[in-house]
Formats: sequence, C-alpha cells, structure tokens
Amino acid sequence: MNVVLFGATGMVGQGVLRECLLNPEVRSVLAIGRSETGQQHAKLRELVHPDFLDFSAIENELSGFDACFFCLGISSAGMTEADYRRITYDVTMAAARVLARLNPGMTFEYVSGMGTDSSERGRTMWARVKGETENALLRLPFNAAYMFRPGVIVPLHGIKSKTKLYRFFYAAAGPLLPLLLAFPKYVTTTERIGRAMIQVARRPAAKPVLENSDINKLQLAEAG
Ligand SMILES: NC(=O)c1ccc[n+]([C@@H]2O[C@H](COP(=O)([O-])OP(=O)(O)OC[C@H]3O[C@@H](n4cnc5c(N)ncnc54)[C@H](OP(=O)(O)O)[C@@H]3O)[C@@H](O)[C@H]2O)c1
Repeated sequence: MNVVLFGATGMVGQGVLRECLLNPEVRSVLAIGRSETGQQHAKLRELVHPDFLDFSAIENELSGFDACFFCLGISSAGMTEADYRRITYDVTMAAARVLARLNPGMTFEYVSGMGTDSSERGRTMWARVKGETENALLRLPFNAAYMFRPGVIVPLHGIKSKTKLYRFFYAAAGPLLPLLLAFPKYVTTTERIGRAMIQVARRPAAKPVLENSDINKLQLAEAG
C-alpha cells in the first residue's frame, strides 16, 4: 500500500508514521508538511510545501496512492472560528479535493475528535467545524472515507505533541497516563491510531465514523 501522510510532524502523525514504517503492508509513505520530520527511512519520502490552501504546484506528486492518513490539525484554544475553520476545514478540503480527483480508488482517513458535531449546529465551535469537515469529506468521491474520533490520546515511544496545552497536560499526567488505558471508550494511543488507520485502509470498516472504542478494537486486528 502506498500512503500519503499529512501532519507527520505532529503527535498523532508521528505515531501514524511510525506504524506505517514498521508495517510490511505499507510499501511507501509520502509525508507532506511545512517542514521535514527529520526521519530517514527507505520507505519514507518527504515533500515540503509552504501553502496548504493550494496544492496545484505539487499536483504531479499527488497520484498513485492507496490511502491518505490526514493527521494535520490544531487545537481551537484561543482561536477565532474563522481562523480555526481555515486550518480545519479549508486546508483539509483543499488537500482532499485534489486527492479525490487524482486517486479515485483512495481510502481517505481523517483524524477529527471525540464529540465532533455531525449536525454542524451545536454550540461548541470546534465540534461544529470538525463536523462540517467530516460531512464534506464523506461527500467526496473517494473509494472510501473514514472519520477517526479519538478521545484522549496517550503518546507512546517518546512522541511529543506540538501543542503547548497538550504538552502541559501530558507532563502533568505523567506516569498516570498508561493507567488511563483502562478506559478504552475514552482513551487510545498514538500506536493504536496508526494501527487502526492501516487496518481500515486494508479492510473496509463497518461504518464511516469510528469512535475511540472502535479505534481500539480495529487496531487489535493489525497488532495481530
Ligand atoms: N492530541 C490529542 O489528544 C487529540 C485528541 C483528539 C483529537 N486530536 C486531533 O488530532 C489531530 C492532530 O493532533 P496532534 O495532537 O497530532 O496535533 P499537533 O501535535 O499539534 O500536530 C499538528 C500537525 O498539524 C500540522 N499543522 C498545523 N497547522 C498547520 C498549517 N496551518 N499548515 C500545515 N500544517 C499544519 C503541524 O505541522 P507543523 O509541524 O508544520 O506545525 C503538525 O504536523 C488534530 O486534528 C486534533 O484535533 C488530537
């Protein structure tokens, strides 16, 4: 399987990249970002692109993929709705539209979050915008699209979040973090998300929206 990965420098993306590089079913990974991950691996190629609202300059690099793992995203803390929407909806859709056109056989997998509002009308700004993004992605002509809704994500294997707020939370929770895994309805790990994403790209899941507990169940099949 050939994978294109967005957000590989972030916490979730680093975890997904790690699982892709370890998994023999993944033949190649193209990571597209504003900067490089700094990782070297025979399966990994990186493309640095400055403008995530316009991919026309790199369109010739964007075909031939079986799956896209879209892990790019930001926290809404302290952001206006317009700014949050520009990254969450506009950037995601700019990439997804090009990929759907060039890769009709693709499985597109988007990391949103637990509590995402599919009605697009609720009172919580981030949940509304993520809901709008999910709904728009599900309308694109991909072979399949899946929305991953993790709750709390425990970073494993030395992975760190780029978001200050999350880094503070993980540092404060410290050794208690692994104990949270006793709550699979609400808590997952970077490793489990990566494994579940690969599993869903290989074998269709029963439904397009995957909640935290679905992610934890799916990854078991990939873990073997
Ligand atoms: N962390 C959690 O516990 C958690 C829980 C549930 C859901 N999620 C969701 O998972 C997704 C990823 O979260 P994360 O924790 O991995 O975040 P993160 O560590 O802050 O990483 C964010 C990633 O998105 C990229 N990015 C951000 N803004 C960008 C922009 N304007 N243009 C291009 N790239 C941009 C970053 O690239 P740069 O390196 O260039 O900044 C980085 O690769 C988000 O949608 C988040 O809502 C996270």
